[in-house]
Amino acid sequence: MADYDVIVIGGGPGGYVCAIRCAQLGLKTACVEGRGTLGGTCLNVGCIPSKAMLHASEMYHEAHAHFDEMGLKGAKPTVDLPQMLTYKQSSVDSNTKGIEFLFKKNKVDWLQGWGKIAGNGQVQVGDETHTAKNIVIATGSASATLKGVEVDEERVVTSTGALELKEVPKRMVVIGAGVIGLEMGSVYQRLGAEVTVIEFLDQITPGMDGEIQKTFQRMLKKQGFNFLMGSAVQGVEKLKTKLKVTYKKRKDDSEATIDADVVLLATGRTPYTEGLGLAEAGVEMTDRGQVKTDAHLATNVKGIWAIGDVVTGPMLAHKAEDEGMAVAERIAGQAGHVNYGVIPSVIYTAPEVATVGKTEEQLKEEGRAYKVGKFPFMGNARAKSHFAGDGFVKLLADKDTDRILGAHIIGPMAGDLIHEICVGMEFGAAAEDIARTCHAHPTFSEAVREAALACGDGAIHA
Ligand code: NAI
Repeated sequence: MADYDVIVIGGGPGGYVCAIRCAQLGLKTACVEGRGTLGGTCLNVGCIPSKAMLHASEMYHEAHAHFDEMGLKGAKPTVDLPQMLTYKQSSVDSNTKGIEFLFKKNKVDWLQGWGKIAGNGQVQVGDETHTAKNIVIATGSASATLKGVEVDEERVVTSTGALELKEVPKRMVVIGAGVIGLEMGSVYQRLGAEVTVIEFLDQITPGMDGEIQKTFQRMLKKQGFNFLMGSAVQGVEKLKTKLKVTYKKRKDDSEATIDADVVLLATGRTPYTEGLGLAEAGVEMTDRGQVKTDAHLATNVKGIWAIGDVVTGPMLAHKAEDEGMAVAERIAGQAGHVNYGVIPSVIYTAPEVATVGKTEEQLKEEGRAYKVGKFPFMGNARAKSHFAGDGFVKLLADKDTDRILGAHIIGPMAGDLIHEICVGMEFGAAAEDIARTCHAHPTFSEAVREAALACGDGAIHA
């Protein structure tokens, strides 16, 4: 008799959600986590603490940018970074404790320590070996390294160190114009740093809709960001008083340098599979170092499953959560399934950027007949009164059937607004379905409806 029906290795958003759902479905479940707290990278050193820092820095910026105009007078706030970090940590702590509570409530055992597959149906945690009918690998990812860039998490940092800086740097160089670089760059730019982003490609946020990329970069430049595009970082030299970043311009191979006080390395993440005993267990990997799974997230070894950043697909907490629930349902004999066509992606800058489904570039490449419904937030009364009229909602729908194929939003609350489109897409909605749904006035969400109207007879306020 096995000790457990399921042992999940990894207590991040994929792993802990999988464990809770397994327990809810009547399976005897344990979750292995070696970090002192549950919640993984996302909760401890990723999504949640960065959102606290984004929120605080945005409030600071708002106070300086708009308070006078709104008739809010008085001394302007100054930055107390240690206190901001205390606030950030408290938002993490309250959530890690929350997961511990949920584990107790659902009777999930937390096996504290680092787990390793130790043979057929066996998981070793420290000196103990536990047996399980099913093992779920949910070990996430680690920051990618870059040749010539030695991370010390003090002056040359990944997202982890960027959340613990002792002071606001004067000059920050960010390597990579992806989500982490732009979110953490925004935090320090607002707090007073001069931020320069060096990006290998010619556009920021690779893979996003082209129009969003251009608008987003223009807005960030207006906020004070500097961009060195089409440039590959070659190395960072650590001098006593500064860092010297060398980069090569792709167009003519010429080299240049830029000085910084802090360098943030944000060139992606790699699946974390080290020391898990996967090779010994015979688990097949992809050529990109991910655990190989079938469409149901099962590996080639019976009883071993894998979810989240460690498998293929976008490295997003909510994608991992969905996979965790789907695997739990599969193990329980149900038909768990993830719709990879409807996974939203959000960048929590100001303004926010949110997208779901196909980009216009993808539709063109597929040769698909589509129509575009676009609406600027400048036509949305609520947005204007919040100084947030810059940006737009762009809806892509099938030209013949009107079915929604994608949505791309840059503007206030974009990360929340995107979800009515996600729900619509899950239900196979047409743009007209959104257009005919009454939206409360005055809300930001009216901009989504107007974009849907623009797919038909036209928006009212544009
Ligand atoms: P990313 O993959 O989003 O962006 C990395 C960027 O670095 C790319 O634009 C790439 O072209 C560039 N780059 C690579 N090598 C370079 C070099 N030598 N010199 C200059 N530029 C170079 O990776 P990022 O931002 O590190 O994020 C990692 C993962 O975490 C992503 O999958 C992201 O989706 C996820 N994440 C998601 C968040 C969210 O959903 N809000 C927040 C933070 C991270």
